[in-house]
Amino acid sequence: MDQQITRVEESRILFEDDEHQVVWFGWEEAEGADSFVQTNQCLVVNHDKGYLFDPGGTYVFHHVLENIMKVINPRQIRYLFATHQDPDVCSSIPYWMKTTDADLMISRLWLHFVSHFGLEDVSRVTPVPDGGGRIKLDSGDYIAMIPAHFLHSEGNFSIYDSRSGILFSGDIGAAIFPSGERYLMVDDFDHHLKYMEGFHKRYMHSNQVCARWVELVRQLDIRMIVPQHGAIFPQEQVENFLSWFSELRCGGDYIDKIYRDERF
Ligand SMILES: [Fe+2]
Ligand SMILES: [Fe+2]
Repeated sequence: MDQQITRVEESRILFEDDEHQVVWFGWEEAEGADSFVQTNQCLVVNHDKGYLFDPGGTYVFHHVLENIMKVINPRQIRYLFATHQDPDVCSSIPYWMKTTDADLMISRLWLHFVSHFGLEDVSRVTPVPDGGGRIKLDSGDYIAMIPAHFLHSEGNFSIYDSRSGILFSGDIGAAIFPSGERYLMVDDFDHHLKYMEGFHKRYMHSNQVCARWVELVRQLDIRMIVPQHGAIFPQEQVENFLSWFSELRCGGDYIDKIYRDERF
């Protein structure tokens, strides 16, 4: 089964200066398979410490680990961040807790749910309050957990790296490509919409919540958005995405249609 997982492409450095590096890793199942949702992971290295965003499912654990080891020793990873509780985000957590000495940052809502992925000891799990929080880095910069509740999970955060200006948005901005259509960077926003729309209309909560999140993240200096699935929004596409998402009708806005199993 392992050989069915392929890299989307080689790992990519999204940002680099003398004190700070952001590395992207991405995985998907071999083309034609549809049981496995492609995921993106990001590793921040600041001075000699690592910070891993949405480590991924058990299915990709050893692939991610192998690639991280090309960048740093896993024992240098200080924090693991989970945007929410889904298996594609963090079912690999028991393995990461053994391979690293890191603490896991996850919404307080999911503190006791992560045990069901096989984590016996939650002493290294830090429950993040609804208002979010930030971790100060050795360079003086910070990584912040920005509230993104109900988008789509009830206890959900986006992760913002202040040095690079990269917003790791979790499932917000996710795209699912048909086989053979994949690309890494969004270039044509209108074309990209067709790979995002269906997912967001059904998995996101409602326009009220989308608009609230956009209002919050607009206060940040965002230079790139990396969702947990699909393609990356470079700086010139950030505003296109935020405007679209703030207007999106989804979830509860279509509740009657959803209950009647009508398409929308
Ligand atoms: Fe999710
Ligand atoms: Fe996801």
